Amino acid sequence: MGNKRYAKVATKLPGRKASEVVKKTSDYVSPSIARFYPLVVESAHGSLVKDVDGNQFIDFSSGIAVLNTGSTHPKVVQAIRRQAEKFVHFSYTDFYYENIVELSKQLDSLVPGKQAKMVYYGNSGAEAIEAAMKLSRNYTKRPLFLAHGGAFHGRTFGSMSLTASKPIQRKGSFPLVPEVVHFPFPYCYRCPWKQTFPECDYYCVDYFKEQYLEKFVPVEEVAAYFFEPIQGEGGYVPAPPEYFKRMEFLRKDGVLFVDDEIQTGMGRTGKFFAIEHYGLVPDMVSIAKGIASGVPLSAMVARADVMKSWQPGQHASTFGANPIAVEAALATLEVFKSEGLVENARRLGKKAVKRLLEMKEKYEIVGDVRGMGLFIGVEIVKSKKTKERGIEEAEQIMQYCFRHGLLVITAGRNVLRVIPPLNTSEDELFEGLDILEEAISEANKTVMKG
Ligand SMILES: Cc1ncc(COP(=O)(O)O)c(C=O)c1O
Repeated sequence: MGNKRYAKVATKLPGRKASEVVKKTSDYVSPSIARFYPLVVESAHGSLVKDVDGNQFIDFSSGIAVLNTGSTHPKVVQAIRRQAEKFVHFSYTDFYYENIVELSKQLDSLVPGKQAKMVYYGNSGAEAIEAAMKLSRNYTKRPLFLAHGGAFHGRTFGSMSLTASKPIQRKGSFPLVPEVVHFPFPYCYRCPWKQTFPECDYYCVDYFKEQYLEKFVPVEEVAAYFFEPIQGEGGYVPAPPEYFKRMEFLRKDGVLFVDDEIQTGMGRTGKFFAIEHYGLVPDMVSIAKGIASGVPLSAMVARADVMKSWQPGQHASTFGANPIAVEAALATLEVFKSEGLVENARRLGKKAVKRLLEMKEKYEIVGDVRGMGLFIGVEIVKSKKTKERGIEEAEQIMQYCFRHGLLVITAGRNVLRVIPPLNTSEDELFEGLDILEEAISEANKTVMKG
């Protein structure tokens, strides 16, 4: 049990009250939800989370990359409260309100590229992806979509049809939306072509041309290419630096580039959007998660000429751009500026990666440390040489952390994600990393004993 400055675990986990909630949840709530461990939240502020039994945890999960400004940031809470007293809802599908204009202007200027842009609003990441699927078909009048193996774009029918990170996500739901072509993502640590970067000279791009475009995908029928610059649920896998520029040839054939920044966006990688690390200007960007600090909101920002292919009535969502969510998003952007959160992500990310790389040197089971800013993946293996996935070990580390007051979750099957709020303090960050190291050291001992 943890007895540190921030992490304070005084009960067995789950504690008595938490156990009751877990039990009742399984009686009344859909079993389709897969949880990492039985954390039952009572309150959360900044990077600290209290459970219903009075235990306190350091948050390295940010409510799955949502709480980039930390939990209950006072400016965000104040904005929510202020708007709730004015009006809570007045559907933007049928009426107007003012704050949407301001938020759209700000998003247009944050999304890369000088071209004119427009914004469509929904409530979830999946909705922002659905909107991009519908819009790209509408604009291009083409049926096909390209997406990557390992991708995660959501769980509704359209977005799930692009998703390819775990079979369970599709299980029992077939048939899906047809006409999605998946091709391998450049996962350099586990190169699907057994090549080594950079000597490979982006063989992945040649392979795509030769085995897909020259064999069975008529490029003139492709509406859009969907990608995450750094795969999230697939295992925190960054594409190599020139990858998207090298894929840009698709544009000559009229393929739209849809950048899914739902997990990587909102400053997390040390740039406002991860694609800025790659120098590509996308045609559409899907944003959700961190946009409103936890209030449900998503946005799909598209080139204005593309968005203008839609006519009134072609797409909308009752709760999209809910006025409270819009105020929360404006407050979130204000906090980003006043607290320099993008720079923070970069600065703290460097410190965290340095510490994690030291762990990689020390422990056999730390196979790879990768990422940008505070979007960091730690890939756990059974042996550095064989790179056999350390699935049980990653699970063991995650559970140890939970029991000792640190909320860390996995991505893919054997990758730990380090994604604290972007305004976490250095003390919180380092205490969290200490707990993570203890957990890794324990799991490492088990592996070394054989
Ligand atoms: C990259 C990416 N796209 C889309 C989604 C779907 O978002 P939501 O769960 O809000 O529908 C997620 C969620 O984790 C995601 O990480």
